Amino acid sequence: MNVKRLTDLIAQGAVAGKRVFIRADLNVPQDDAGNITEDTRIRASVPCIQMAMQAGAAVMVTSHLGRPTEGQFKPEDSLAPVAKRLGELLGFEVPLVSNWVDGVTVAPGHVVLLENCRINKGEKKNDETLARKMAALCDIFVHDAFGTAHRAEASTYGIAQYAPIACAGPLLAAEIDAVTAALAHPKRPLVAIVAGSKVSTKLTILKALSAKVDGLIVGGGIANTFMLAAGLKIGKSLAEPDLLNEAKAVIDVMKARGAAVPIPTDVVVAKRFAADAEATVKAATDVADDDLILDIGPQTAALLAQQLLAAGTIVWNGPVGVFEFDAFAHGTETLARAIAASPAFSIAGGGDTLAAIAKYGIEKDVGYISTGGGAFLEVLEGKTLPAFEILSRRAAG
Ligand code: 3PG
Repeated sequence: MNVKRLTDLIAQGAVAGKRVFIRADLNVPQDDAGNITEDTRIRASVPCIQMAMQAGAAVMVTSHLGRPTEGQFKPEDSLAPVAKRLGELLGFEVPLVSNWVDGVTVAPGHVVLLENCRINKGEKKNDETLARKMAALCDIFVHDAFGTAHRAEASTYGIAQYAPIACAGPLLAAEIDAVTAALAHPKRPLVAIVAGSKVSTKLTILKALSAKVDGLIVGGGIANTFMLAAGLKIGKSLAEPDLLNEAKAVIDVMKARGAAVPIPTDVVVAKRFAADAEATVKAATDVADDDLILDIGPQTAALLAQQLLAAGTIVWNGPVGVFEFDAFAHGTETLARAIAASPAFSIAGGGDTLAAIAKYGIEKDVGYISTGGGAFLEVLEGKTLPAFEILSRRAAG
């Protein structure tokens, strides 16, 4: 990746005393009371901030949180809980600054967090005036928001165009290096798990992976659509029947390459979608009209676990069942434990996947955990993300 890196600028002594604007992705899940339920992205953003502060920079950090309406500040959109958690991780209080676009006061060696950047009018559409104002706040712009690297917004793209210097932070650099290395020369067999509610949101990734991987494990609503494509009944389960031809095409491409999309042979069903619904294991051929498939069955999970144990590289995006409900978590847990036990290099990404990894405590056994959701998928698809495009362009002069 031909981009400037913050680490190189620090090594050249180009950061001391400079105003450094870091775009991080601190978009973390919260419960109804606003408590942060999973803080991977905040923890992953700490090294860049510490690195810039220790190098003597005056550090400004911002992020989006959710998808607020521009120009309308609502308390629930505030980065206040993030500032608190960041302060706990850094070991000192991090001031949160509102209305920052026209000027920010921060001293060298210190850091401030700038309130949710998506509240600024023009952020999403990459408004040039807004981007130029943000660029004027700093000497060096650092893009460290891998989770948002697939967006071309004012704080991710426009600012990189206009800041005096634009570079990649350590997280952004590590993410792209890890994902591209895993896919460029993967140790085979390369097995991908692509799961989640909808085929439509992951269709391009399924197509792209069908040309590369040796095994494509599907789960959740995606698996239901593939079961339909294989001629099985799925009762009233979530699926997208209008995408049957697309699912069949993926199966055919894999078959033609001597690879496979394993279709579940057994499933766990319920009559309603609830944590306390009765869970019944059935053969995939026995699903009734009023059944909801909420997990893969134990036989399928065991077979897939064998495949993961024999893999050389594993790419994981999405849980294979409703793992938030214990009765329907067995499939996801079995695959998670197989990934942890497998000698394969594993790489995982996506919000639900991170939650599953945390639930089963396998963080240390996964080769690389990406902070990207949509960005992770787009890199897997082989796309050049806007963040890398603009940073490469700036590096080329
Ligand atoms: C994510 O959660 O995937 C990133 O923070 C990007 O968020 P967005 O989809 O709202 O742009």
